[in-house]
Amino acid sequence: MAEKSFKYVILGGGVSAGYAAREFAKQGVKPGELAIISKEAVAPYERPALSKAYLFPEGTARLPGFHVCVGSGGERLLPEWYPEKGISLILSTEIVKADLPSKTLISAAGETFKYETLIIATGSTVIKLSDFGVQGADAKNILYLREIDDADKLVEAIKEKKNGKAVIVGGGYIGLELSAALRINNIDVSMVYPEPWCMPRLFTSGIAAFYEGYYAKKGVKIIKGTVAVGFDAHDNGEVKAVKLKDGRVLEADIVVVGVGGRPLITLFKGQVEEEKGGIKADGFFKTSVPDVYAVGDVATFPLKLYNEIRRVEHVDHARKSAEQAVKAIFAREQGKSIDEYDYLPYFYSRAFDLSWQFYGDNVGDTVLFGDSSPDSSTHKFGSYWIKDGKVVGAFLESGTPEENKAIAKVARVQPPADSLDELAKEGLTFACKI
Ligand code: FDA
Ligand code: NAD
Repeated sequence: MAEKSFKYVILGGGVSAGYAAREFAKQGVKPGELAIISKEAVAPYERPALSKAYLFPEGTARLPGFHVCVGSGGERLLPEWYPEKGISLILSTEIVKADLPSKTLISAAGETFKYETLIIATGSTVIKLSDFGVQGADAKNILYLREIDDADKLVEAIKEKKNGKAVIVGGGYIGLELSAALRINNIDVSMVYPEPWCMPRLFTSGIAAFYEGYYAKKGVKIIKGTVAVGFDAHDNGEVKAVKLKDGRVLEADIVVVGVGGRPLITLFKGQVEEEKGGIKADGFFKTSVPDVYAVGDVATFPLKLYNEIRRVEHVDHARKSAEQAVKAIFAREQGKSIDEYDYLPYFYSRAFDLSWQFYGDNVGDTVLFGDSSPDSSTHKFGSYWIKDGKVVGAFLESGTPEENKAIAKVARVQPPADSLDELAKEGLTFACKI
């Protein structure tokens, strides 16, 4: 089979790939030099839409509406943009073998791709319940969400099981966003997760209490402190019930599982240095292998602000790390230098009519401010994290754009906070005056 050669190859066609492509174009990539190879059948899009407007009964998002780079207010890169720029968008092509020493990638169909410089942007995959042997986990309508094909299956199931029952397994991002999306579709929703409160990786018990109360008001039943240990199916193979470790059995027409992601790095095992479950990269997203870069979910990189090595599974970092890598590649070619990546962690979520943003680091003491009662009319409340007398992290629900900018600034500037009580009393005012 024919061999194709490119100066640059981006492996993966998700968020990072799309933002990298835009940066390549800005930097003046020449026609024929760049290829994006993706196992998805569509051009890069804003993945966050899949757990939100893609599933809404009204105001539904569909491609081409959310191709990159609309998610950050940029120009939308329609599928035709790539050929117009002389960029080869090679879709529905899964790479099954990567040989970094010979700079070769091989697809499932046997095509060979050669590169001079490679950007690994393979993102994450879902952790499946079958990965840890949960009985009956391969029943029909037990669904996961990572790519647009998964979202289409969900849309189909929602249509087919109108007014039916869903069990959401997991209390993280997918759990919270999908419970809301299914509820908006008038599905009867129960959520199950092992921890004492939802989103424990980020939320304090105080923050979580608001969301759990709010979800309960919307009719979502929350079952904490237990896990799904098995599933029953109908004769046609469709899921019928979820068996919990605490002995309870929940009826279900649809099950959505969101028990975490895993970076897709197996292709490169033993060929590149790893750290903290990802591919080790420097502040320019260069890996331990010459001419190989890693960006987005797969990259473990120096978080300069905290003098730590971290991996981040969020869209803002996917966009920015991709841009940084491409800038670094061009700077190197031109014998120039650019500043090291200096990232301020930024995570957000939206569900029902709620919308929160978080900036910084969630370590140290915490204070809750504002009206965090689920019955509040404004839903405006937040939290600060304080370490070594400085505010290092800030969370805000229902902030205005200016207020969100203010909490971002707090997390970046890390102002001192002498008294936690004072900080709690001042609340958002503290951020707005920084
Ligand atoms: P991404 O997953 O975007 O892209 C990877 C690409 O590589 C995919 O196209 C995949 O098919 C392809 N690929 C992988 N292996 C391959 C192979 N061997 N051959 C060819 N192609 C291959 N974050 C946030 O901050 N706010 C939010 O609201 C959300 N919402 C959200 C919803 C949902 C449903 C998900 C799944 C994730 C989010 N996220 C999020 C997280 C965010 O979307 C995620 O961090 C970025 O998409 C990561 O970008 P990457 O480019 O690294 O991977
Ligand atoms: P997550 O890590 O946010 O949450 C996983 C949850 O499942 C945790 O609460 C965990 O304890 C729980 N869990 C683990 N094992 C379980 C079990 N056996 N039974 C029940 N619960 C179990 O992961 P996710 O929600 O699956 O999200 C997957 C990926 O998608 C992540 O990378 C995430 O960052 C990304 N994502 C992000 C957003 C956002 O930023 N708004 C939205 C959707 C998805």
